[in-house]
Amino acid sequence: MATLIDGKAFAASLRERIAGETAGFTAKTGRKPGLAVVLVGEDAASQVYVRSKHKACIAAGMESFEHRLPADTAEADLLSLVAQLNGDARVDGILVQLPLPEGMDENAVIQAIDPDKDVDGFTTASAGRLLTGLPGFVACTPLGCLMLLKDALGDLSGKSAVVIGRSNIVGKPMAQLLLRESCTVTIAHSRTRDLPETVRGADIVVAAVGRPEMVKGDWLKPGATVIDVGINRVPGEEEGKTRLVGDVDFASAKDVAGAITPVPGGVGPMTIACLLHNTLDAACRREGVDRTAL
Ligand code: GUN
Repeated sequence: MATLIDGKAFAASLRERIAGETAGFTAKTGRKPGLAVVLVGEDAASQVYVRSKHKACIAAGMESFEHRLPADTAEADLLSLVAQLNGDARVDGILVQLPLPEGMDENAVIQAIDPDKDVDGFTTASAGRLLTGLPGFVACTPLGCLMLLKDALGDLSGKSAVVIGRSNIVGKPMAQLLLRESCTVTIAHSRTRDLPETVRGADIVVAAVGRPEMVKGDWLKPGATVIDVGINRVPGEEEGKTRLVGDVDFASAKDVAGAITPVPGGVGPMTIACLLHNTLDAACRREGVDRTAL
């Protein structure tokens, strides 16, 4: 049986460490790090996320600025709010919750965020910085996956890694992060010819495809480390009930993998902790504070 990678516990201790550093930042600068979160419309899942982000900010000792706009907000008004937040000295990080309502140009809104406040890591400037090795912000989910991998394995150098999925938010930045750690990286996707065979060569497997329980235990190299980014809701055992499953078939994978993240309780809790991590980084950079000294 594989070791369980406890993302929930790791995220809790990360948040505690960030709260300590945040107190140090506030003592040094006389102000709290600030995160602005913009929510447009009434999307139910987004409302839950935004609330959790707000609570996590407050718990870490940060300032949380919430901006809730109606679904029929004009794109120009949203862009002027982003411009205002870019210029607001109290705001270190800006997050525009996605998806935006139908008809809005998500890309135009995201690109309007000052890259030095882009704590989501979604702007092309942030993607380019990651690609070229410049300091910048990395999207929270892949950053959380990397932290779990380094905690489980230590040095990743020379390991072979397969990332399944090529999204801008997870797959592509994940592959870049692993490359930065000197892994040999393969990005697999829906057109990959022999996916089980590709996965079988990997010491590290990151599954981020959004297909319930797709990766089977017999695809894995024995002892591989498996990070499951999937959050899929499927029908449960009982009539009318649902359950959450990942992109990895946990039941078969746990007997082959060396270490594996569960769903829920693996990657999920890391995302908000990494958002706080990025926000504190943004605040330190803007104030010229050495975070390692906090
Ligand atoms: N919607 C779902 N997850 C995220 C996220 O991490 N950032 C933003 N901006 N929107 C999201």
